This record gives sequence, structure tokens and C-alpha cells, in this order.
Amino acid sequence: MKWTLILIFGSCLAETTLCWTYHYSNETMNWTQAREWCQKYFTDMVVIQNQAENDYLVSILPQKRSSPYFWIGITRNHMNESWIWIGNNSTWIGNNSWAPNEPNNVHATEFCVEIYTNTGENRGKWNDEKCSKSKYAACFKTQCNESSCERGRCQEAINSTTCLCERGFKGDRCQTPVECLPLSEPYNGYHSCSRGNQTFNTTCRLKCHPGFFINGSSFVTCEDTGDWSGPRLTCAAVECPPLPQTYNGSHNCSRGNQTFKTTCHFKCDPGFFVIGSPAVTCGETRVWSGPRPTCTSYKQALLALAGCGALSTFCCICFCCIKHRQRKKLSQERLPEEGSPPCDTQP
Ligand SMILES: *[C@@H]1O[C@H](CO)[C@@H](O)[C@H](O)[C@H]1NC(C)=O
Ligand SMILES: *[C@@H]1O[C@H](CO)[C@@H](O)[C@H](O)[C@H]1NC(C)=O
Ligand SMILES: *[C@@H]1O[C@H](CO)[C@@H](O)[C@H](O)[C@H]1NC(C)=O
Ligand SMILES: *[C@@H]1O[C@H](CO)[C@@H](O)[C@H](O)[C@H]1NC(C)=O
Ligand SMILES: *[C@@H]1O[C@H](CO)[C@@H](O)[C@H](O)[C@H]1NC(C)=O
Ligand SMILES: *[C@@H]1O[C@H](CO)[C@@H](O)[C@H](O)[C@H]1NC(C)=O
Ligand SMILES: *[C@@H]1O[C@H](CO)[C@@H](O)[C@H](O)[C@H]1NC(C)=O
Ligand SMILES: *[C@@H]1O[C@H](CO)[C@@H](O)[C@H](O)[C@H]1NC(C)=O
Ligand SMILES: *[C@@H]1O[C@H](CO)[C@@H](O)[C@H](O)[C@H]1NC(C)=O
Ligand SMILES: *[C@@H]1O[C@H](CO)[C@@H](O)[C@H](O)[C@H]1NC(C)=O
Ligand SMILES: *[C@@H]1O[C@H](CO)[C@@H](O)[C@H](O)[C@H]1NC(C)=O
Ligand SMILES: *[C@@H]1O[C@H](CO)[C@@H](O)[C@H](O)[C@H]1NC(C)=O
Repeated sequence: MKWTLILIFGSCLAETTLCWTYHYSNETMNWTQAREWCQKYFTDMVVIQNQAENDYLVSILPQKRSSPYFWIGITRNHMNESWIWIGNNSTWIGNNSWAPNEPNNVHATEFCVEIYTNTGENRGKWNDEKCSKSKYAACFKTQCNESSCERGRCQEAINSTTCLCERGFKGDRCQTPVECLPLSEPYNGYHSCSRGNQTFNTTCRLKCHPGFFINGSSFVTCEDTGDWSGPRLTCAAVECPPLPQTYNGSHNCSRGNQTFKTTCHFKCDPGFFVIGSPAVTCGETRVWSGPRPTCTSYKQALLALAGCGALSTFCCICFCCIKHRQRKKLSQERLPEEGSPPCDTQP
């Protein structure tokens, strides 16, 4: 996809054909033209990053008797500025790169650099020159291109290319996303992932079954390390409010806790009996299925019954009396009658 040229010196693999190559012109031209020529037919003018590359380049270039001068890709804009390589703005200059007494900036305008390829002691040394002078062009051709590395940068040595992968990708062309271990299915829930596979950048969301809730994080992402971003996703059962102790009775639940689907059975102490439903179940909305029953003793029940009976007898009697008095009043108004009702307290 994207590629950045990184020039490094690497050891040659004799059998590999993936490598940059050096090329040169057989005609002279000024520095600007030379660079354009290199860019037209190859990748660019040569960039040297260390002494070994310098030596290798000199071994490739022809040993010309007359005019043994080749332009190389290092320049500066002003005499007080530093020398900069084209391509990546590197400023590498070796201790022995310059020929003796160079750079001398003789014309105050010597802002380009040539390399000597003669056979003398200055072979492989550099000299600053006016950019308008005519020299041969020394070029390189990269083997890296847009399709060399899918998700990485192409790094090139003299005789080899390698892909430096973006995080989350691997493979010789950085074509394979890092895979995470498959997520184990959560208890009482399920995952919903952003992709069919669980590779770098896949996000999986947790959904819980009814009666369960997300305990902790609700999603995880597959990271570039091949690990999921957080602890295992878990669904926990909802819990109903605790059941208080029953007076004169006890309850026994199907589990040690009072979570979803737990059923609690109520039992009353001897001499007491249950009033209400004897069992409640915890529902998915954290609510018990019904009210808690109560325990009542038989004695209380009898007393209550008796009390109720007495009360109702009393009420009945009063009702009768009132009714009777009303009737008596009515009849007295019309025709007087003999006898008195048993509950007539009037003298
Ligand atoms: C690059 O490879 C060529 C041929 O495959 C070989 O002649 C040359 O020596 C190698 N260069 C280096 C610097 O190893
Ligand atoms: C010089 O290079 C050109 C192409 O750049 C080529 O056509 C020509 O034959 C070369 N001349 C010599 C003498 O090698
Ligand atoms: C370069 O620097 C020297 C002193 O360090 C100064 O005298 C000179 O004017 C500078 N030249 C330019 C072109 O800036
Ligand atoms: C080199 O430096 C110039 C000017 O500072 C900048 O515009 C350019 O982007 C740099 N190139 C690289 C490859 O860093
Ligand atoms: C240019 O590339 C060389 C080799 O990869 C590297 O050592 C140097 O730091 C780079 N320079 C810049 C300015 O990026
Ligand atoms: C270059 O010269 C400096 C200073 O003289 C020295 O410290 C350094 O080790 C030299 N580097 C090499 C590669 O010889
Ligand atoms: C190089 O040559 C071209 C064409 O002759 C010219 O237009 C350009 O100004 C020259 N550049 C330099 C730096 O001399
Ligand atoms: C790109 O480079 C690769 C090797 O890195 C090579 O196999 C492929 O043919 C090149 N593709 C193009 C379009 O040049
Ligand atoms: C995983 O799925 C994504 C998107 O569907 C796809 O681009 C990628 O190639 C797949 N990876 C693997 C290893 O199957
Ligand atoms: C990973 O996902 C984030 C957010 O969705 C996105 O911005 C990024 O481009 C993705 N990275 C890759 C390599 O797919
Ligand atoms: C939620 O998870 C924490 C630790 O992961 C655990 O200690 C706690 O008991 C869990 N809560 C429930 C209700 O399961
Ligand atoms: C409740 O009890 C059940 C069964 O014993 C157990 O699986 C579950 O983890 C418990 N839940 C909590 C929150 O303690």
C-alpha cells in the first residue's frame, strides 16, 4: 500500500533478485539534469548512507580515465548550511568521505557533490562542485514498489528488500492480520463480533440472556499483540432483594444466593401454618414472583375466627335490633301490637 524508501546497507543474498541496483549515464550533464535523468529511467540519484555503500558504489561505477566524475545525491542550499541527502534528508558524511582539502567551496557557489572514480588515492572520495558543471549521473533503482508490502513499509538494502509491518500485521508482505485466540463463549450470553474472524481490530460485544447482566466490560478488541483488550466477558445473574426472616417459620432456597430463577420454599414452625403462596421465584426484573407468605399459629387462627365470629354475631344482633325497632316504630304509628322483641331494652 504505502511505501517509504529506507536505504540501508544489507548483506547480499546471492540468489535473491530483490535488491536495489546502481546505474549510471554514459553522457555528462549538470546536477539538476542528472537527477531528472535518474528519476526518469530509475528511482533517483544515489544516496549513500555509510562507507560500505560508498565502496560498493565505486566498485560498480566504471573507472573512467578522462572525466572520472559522477554526481551523487547530496547538496546544500547555501554555503553556511549543512549538506543534505535527497530522499530522506539524512546528513551522513563519513570521516573519510571528502577528498583532502574538500569541501573548499572555491567559487562560493559549490553546492553539489561529485564522487571520484579514478584509480588514484582519491578514488571514492567526494568533492564539492558547481551544480552547473557537467558530470555523469550515478543512479539507483529500488525494488520496492506500491505492491511490495501490503500493510507495511518496504525497506531496502543493496541486495534485499524487507517489509517493516504496521502494528497488527505480519507475513513477508505484511499481508496477514495478527489473530487473537478465539473468544470462549460467555456463560449465559453470547458475543457479537464486528467481523467473521477474530483478527487485529475485531471488536466483540457481549449480550446477556434475559435475567443476566453484563458484569464488567461490555466489549473487547483484538489488539496488535494477539491479546484481547480486557478480561473475559461475563454475564452475571440478576439478584432479587434478600428475603427477610419469616416470623415463626423459615425458608429454604434452591441456591445459596437469591439470583434469577432461584426458588425459595417457606415452612412454618410446628403449630403454625402458611398463609399465602408457599414458594416465590426470583424473576428476570429482580422482583420476586409474589409476596412473602406469613406463618400463623392455630390458636391465633381460632381466636381470630372466634373474634370474628363474636364480632359478626354482635353485628348481626345489632342489625336485627335496629331493623326490629324500625319495624316497631312503623307499626306503632299504624296499629299497636302486642309483645316485645327479645333484644328490646326499652322499658
Ligand atoms: C549484490 O548481488 C550481486 C549479484 O547478485 C553481487 O554480485 C553483489 O556482490 C551483491 N552486493 C553486495 C553488496 O553484497
Ligand atoms: C549511451 O546511452 C544511451 C541511452 O542512454 C544509449 O542509447 C547509447 O548506446 C549509449 N552509448 C554508449 C556509447 O554506451
Ligand atoms: C556564513 O557564515 C559566516 C560566519 O560564520 C558569515 O560571515 C557569512 O556572511 C555567512 N554567509 C552567508 C551566505 O550566510
Ligand atoms: C526534507 O526536508 C524538507 C525541508 O525541511 C521537507 O520539506 C521534506 O518533507 C523533508 N523530506 C523528508 C523525506 O523528510
Ligand atoms: C535516512 O535513512 C538512513 C538509513 O535508513 C537512516 O540511518 C537515517 O537516519 C535517515 N535519515 C533521516 C533524516 O531520516
Ligand atoms: C570520526 O572522527 C571522530 C572524531 O575524530 C571520531 O570520534 C569517530 O570515531 C570517527 N568515526 C569513524 C567511523 O572513524
Ligand atoms: C541545467 O541544465 C538545464 C538545461 O540546459 C538548465 O535549464 C538548468 O538551468 C541547468 N541547471 C544548473 C543548476 O545549471
Ligand atoms: C513490485 O515489487 C515486487 C517485489 O518487491 C515485485 O514482485 C513486483 O513485480 C513489483 N510490481 C510492480 C508493479 O513493479
Ligand atoms: C478477516 O476478516 C476481514 C474482514 O472481513 C478480512 O479483511 C480479513 O482478510 C480476514 N482475515 C483472515 C485471516 O481471514
Ligand atoms: C482499526 O480500527 C480503528 C477504529 O475503528 C480504525 O481507525 C483503524 O483504521 C483500524 N485499523 C486497521 C489497521 O484496520
Ligand atoms: C462480577 O465480577 C467480579 C470480578 O470479575 C466478581 O467478583 C463479582 O462477584 C461479579 N459479580 C456478580 C454479580 O457475579
Ligand atoms: C449463585 O449460585 C449459583 C449456583 O450455586 C452460582 O452458579 C452463581 O455463581 C451464584 N451467583 C452469585 C452472584 O453468587
